[in-house]
Amino acid sequence: MKIVMLGAPGAGKGTQAEKIAAKYQIPTISTGNIFRKNMKEGTELGKQVQAIIEAGGLVPDELTNALVFDRLGNEDCKDGYILDGYPRTVPQAEAYLAFLAENNDKLDHAIDVDVPDESIVSRMSGRRVCPDCGETYHLVVNPPKTEGICNKCGAALIQRKDDAAETVQNRLTTYHDQTEPMISLYKERGMYDRVDGTQPIDKVFEDICAILG
Ligand code: AP5
Ligand code: MG
Ligand code: ZN
Repeated sequence: MKIVMLGAPGAGKGTQAEKIAAKYQIPTISTGNIFRKNMKEGTELGKQVQAIIEAGGLVPDELTNALVFDRLGNEDCKDGYILDGYPRTVPQAEAYLAFLAENNDKLDHAIDVDVPDESIVSRMSGRRVCPDCGETYHLVVNPPKTEGICNKCGAALIQRKDDAAETVQNRLTTYHDQTEPMISLYKERGMYDRVDGTQPIDKVFEDICAILG
C-alpha cells in the first residue's frame, strides 16, 4: 500500500504516519525528518537546506525529488510506504506520479489531515521532538512517559527551530501558496480522502483506518 499524507504544517501528518506504519508494517519516509537528520549531522545536504528550512521556505524540487526517488528504491519499500511531507508542490506531485507510472506502479491513497490555521499555532508551541529517532510529542495531548525524554530511544527532547511563532506563520503561507494547489491532482485521479484533523489523535487514526480498510 502506498500512501501520501497531506496537510498543513502541524496538522498531524507525522503523528498519523507513525501509527499507520506500525499497523500496516510499512516504512514512513519523511522528507522533513531526513533534512533535519542531515542538518544535525552537519552533512553537505544539511548545510544546503538549513537556512531554507529555518526560514519556513521549501527545499528546491529537483533536490527533493532525487532524494525521495533514491529512497523509494530501497528494499524496505517494495510492499509499500507512507510519504510524509512529500510531494509538497505541484511540480513534485507531477514528478512523483510520473515516477510511479514509469515503474508501472500507483498511489493508493492521498490522505489530507485537515486542520484550520487557527489551531495550528498552539499545536506547534506544544510540540517536542526527538532529535535522534524523530518521534513527536505534545506537552498537553501526547506527552512522553518521562518528562523531556523520548519513549522510544531515551534521548532528550527538543523544540524544532522552525516551530517559532513567526516561522510557523511563514510555513502556513508557503503551504497555502505552494502545497494546497497540488491537492487537485489527487482529486482528479480519485485518490483523495479528507479526515478531520481537529479530532483527538486516536479518532483521526480510526478515520484513516476506515479509509485504508
Ligand atoms: P516537515 O517536517 O514535513 O514539516 P511540516 O510539513 O511543516 O509538518 P510538521 O512536521 O510541522 O507537522 P505534522 O503535520 O507532521 O504534525 P505533527 O504530527 O508533528 O518539513 C519541515 C521543513 O522541511 C519544511 O518547512 C520545508 O522547509 C522542508 N521540506 C520538507 N519536505 C519538503 C519537500 N517535500 N519539499 C521541499 N521542502 C521540504 O503534529 C504537530 C503537533 O500536534 C505535535 O506536537 C503532535 O503531538 C500534535 N498533534 C498531532 N495530532 C494532534 C491532534 N489530533 N490533536 C491535537 N494535537 C495533535
Ligand atoms: Mg511532521
Ligand atoms: Zn527518540
